Amino acid sequence: MSGAGISYVLKHPNRFAGALLRDPVGLWDTVWDRLAQRREYSGRPPYVCEADPQWQSSLYPLLGATPQQGIKDFAALWADIVGAVRAGGIDVGPAAYSGWNDGDTALVRAIWRVIQATNPARVVETGVGHGFTSRIILEALRRKGNGKLWSIDRPPLDPETRSKVGIAVGGGFKDRWTLIEDSSRRALPGLLRRLGSIDLFIHDSLHTERNVTFELDHAWRALKTGGVAIIDDIDSNWGYDAFLKTHTGLRAIVCEAEPVRPDERRFNKKGLFAIVVKTA
Ligand SMILES: C[S@@+](CC[C@H](N)C(=O)[O-])C[C@H]1O[C@@H](n2cnc3c(N)ncnc32)[C@H](O)[C@@H]1O
Repeated sequence: MSGAGISYVLKHPNRFAGALLRDPVGLWDTVWDRLAQRREYSGRPPYVCEADPQWQSSLYPLLGATPQQGIKDFAALWADIVGAVRAGGIDVGPAAYSGWNDGDTALVRAIWRVIQATNPARVVETGVGHGFTSRIILEALRRKGNGKLWSIDRPPLDPETRSKVGIAVGGGFKDRWTLIEDSSRRALPGLLRRLGSIDLFIHDSLHTERNVTFELDHAWRALKTGGVAIIDDIDSNWGYDAFLKTHTGLRAIVCEAEPVRPDERRFNKKGLFAIVVKTA
């Protein structure tokens, strides 16, 4: 467990004991993830690669689609969503959700455009936090009049943080949204088995090579040909690199994030994400 993890346990022994009684395997899973994160982050430099400066125009040829209406629509909607969360006194941006980053403007705009261009029926994402990516996915699906979202998020122990999970989503998507409160390691394989196949997968949960590799190995098998995987924060670990070395039949672009303020933890003060199309 990290230093921060140990001090959390010492500060909140009841919460830790409660979690241990409720779900010892889940707690073990979390501790193991933290250890892997600590080992990976201290043992290797960031994964540095170049973003495509033209990724917004490269996106449509990548998808084999033409630009869709609704880009202006997106800017106004996004401003409204961020404004409503901020109006509740909640910080938005890098490290704003208990140290995790909220989905940035470039990532959510990319998700919006991919859904507009590909009209997915089954979307799976990992990592909900405040719920910015979830909200944009759901808004885009609603505008298309099609599609459902399954989101997996491991609930935080801290009740205050827990009360903010999915706060950006609101209550208007009950018919389209299933939130699964568990780790992706436990929930993703079974969910994908139940769904059979998926059209779009978004990784925004724990950014370690161990976790990204696990999620992508499962999601890639379930992804239809022509389906899309969007992987956030690829520069924070070597999972995307490992994925590219072990998978063929794909086209990909790397995109630069647009955080609302510099993210000092990243090599470029912004972060990177990747969009990958399964071609075979
Ligand atoms: C970067 S935040 C997600 C941000 C979100 N996509 C947004 O746009 O607001 C990461 C989230 O992943 C969750 N998480 C961490 N490890 C996880 C795991 N192993 N499985 C599922 N969720 C996990 C965290 O609790 C946190 O809510």
